Amino acid sequence: MTAAAPPQVAPLVDGRGRAVTYLRLSLTARCNFRCTYCSPAPDGADEGLRREEAARLVRLFAGLGVRRVRLTGGEPTLRPDLAGVAADAAATPGVEEVALTTNGQRLAELAAPLRAAGVSRLNVSLDTLRPERLASLAGRAADLARILRGVEAAAAAGFASLKLNAVVLRGGNEDELGELCRFAWRHGAVPRFIELMPFGPGEPVPIAEVKRLLAAQGVRLEPDATRGWGPAVHMRGRSGAASGLVGFIGAMSESFCEGCNRVRVGADGALRSCLGGRDRVPLLPMLRAGAGDAELAEAVRRALRDKAERHAMGDAARGPLLPMRGTGG
Ligand code: 5AD
Ligand code: SF4
Repeated sequence: MTAAAPPQVAPLVDGRGRAVTYLRLSLTARCNFRCTYCSPAPDGADEGLRREEAARLVRLFAGLGVRRVRLTGGEPTLRPDLAGVAADAAATPGVEEVALTTNGQRLAELAAPLRAAGVSRLNVSLDTLRPERLASLAGRAADLARILRGVEAAAAAGFASLKLNAVVLRGGNEDELGELCRFAWRHGAVPRFIELMPFGPGEPVPIAEVKRLLAAQGVRLEPDATRGWGPAVHMRGRSGAASGLVGFIGAMSESFCEGCNRVRVGADGALRSCLGGRDRVPLLPMLRAGAGDAELAEAVRRALRDKAERHAMGDAARGPLLPMRGTGG
């Protein structure tokens, strides 16, 4: 006798026909940093989903066609059970990759255990290589030397992908983009430059200008066809004898939403169909009230049916955005 075939459910597709294959799961709204552009709100008591709740949601989404899960925050390394949550996600049938985004502060200790738990792709937020700048961007708790040791530990731990994300800030770090590229390449990492999104104060630097700044800072750019899972577009950069990919995330000035394949569950346990949206579906309260998978799946499908073609983050008239802190980028 052959084993029963798994039940066939229709894969998740949003209202514009885009397949949803990528879940970003925020494990806490808390953070040890206070990045100016993230969300200046004080920490709430929000501890995020419990480990078994995270596992249940990952199973639900994997059953609907999600193949990649990214664990975010706040700062996910503040969760003592992070490696367990990652291992649960990695062991979920259908999940091909577990990724993590971190500010790097605890990475020196955690890179190897997280890799062993099944995290295969790592993004580290690194906006500056200057300690005094880091303090003014991310607060006094941010320790550049520790973060750099974390990047080294990550490079040694053998992740399939290591990316260093920098939000480009006018008057903040726009003069060290070339240095950030060279630093990333030295560690086998891909530097990525992100346009500031309007979750807090600060002036964005459009990607077109970022490219001109890179050229002025010694990085020659050539076209490259590499595409990842996300909205980043890549170029090949060269600086002296060094070279590598450079990613650009034109959240505000480019067609960032075209191939959107993702859905988010925030630290409040609510589903957000769009990072720049204002609507949330309270999945966690439904789950805690005993909802079955079919009911949860229907709520997810309904939310995605109404998802807009592209975000309207810049449209202040639509009211405030949901805070970045509990969304995880
Ligand atoms: N604009 C662009 N990127 C942001 N991030 C956080 N807030 C913003 C913003 N307002 C990025 C961080 C990190 C990821 C979690 O999201 O730099 O890489
Ligand atoms: Fe923390 Fe990341 Fe927000 Fe900075 S951007 S305050 S590191 S959650």
